[in-house]
Amino acid sequence: MRDRIVIANWKMNGSREANRQWVKNFLAQPVKLACRTVVCAPFIHLPELVEACRGSSIEVGAEDVNENVSGAFTGEVSAAMLAEFGLSCAIVGHSERRRLYGETDNRVAMKAVALVRNGLKPIVCVGETLEERERGDTPAVILRQLNAVLSVIRPSDLGAVAYEPVWAIGTGRSADPETAQAVHACIRQRLVQANAAEGRLVPILYGGSVTPDNAAGLFRQPDIDGALVGGASLNASSFYRIGEALCEH
Ligand code: PGA
Repeated sequence: MRDRIVIANWKMNGSREANRQWVKNFLAQPVKLACRTVVCAPFIHLPELVEACRGSSIEVGAEDVNENVSGAFTGEVSAAMLAEFGLSCAIVGHSERRRLYGETDNRVAMKAVALVRNGLKPIVCVGETLEERERGDTPAVILRQLNAVLSVIRPSDLGAVAYEPVWAIGTGRSADPETAQAVHACIRQRLVQANAAEGRLVPILYGGSVTPDNAAGLFRQPDIDGALVGGASLNASSFYRIGEALCEH
């Protein structure tokens, strides 16, 4: 069986007090979720968050990592630094990083390698822009992004692949379940082609305007194993309800 996972991507949000409240509210829910739950937060909040979540069902991850081992990379954080603080995973290749900070497929692949070398699982984001979708390029774009990573690590090294159509992120316009499933099936096929046994076990998450209201429809699809949630994850009970929807399907 594949892991089913909900991952919160807080982006550049939160504060020490807000984070403490979030963890308290999430853990105050009466029923513990039967799926894995991960919170990815800004670097500076990670040590406190790891402490706050110790012994609980919440795993903590980073939103990014630098691909180099150490040295003159002002402002950057290495995979070894993340490992030392007990993180389980990090997001790589988020479309905001690709678009705003010029991250290439190759750099995303190197980041994934750096994580794996340090015992962390990469959550690899892939996704097409609206323009690419309208041109009919969705499968080609997704496969190009995925192939870069699969050329340097094995499917079993992956924490998850997250399909996040760029046009659905933060827009309130989620992909409909069938549209998302078609891309997830294409990702699954590629993972299985790389290694049949390992490829079947990689969770494929959907991300892009997931809310407690649209989550169940997405999770009914055979290759949607969870979600990477931005906006709706800032509220602990909304995020919990998305997790609940996952556990019910
Ligand atoms: P969103 O963001 O849920 O706010 O659309 C998802 C993401 O960027 O991971």
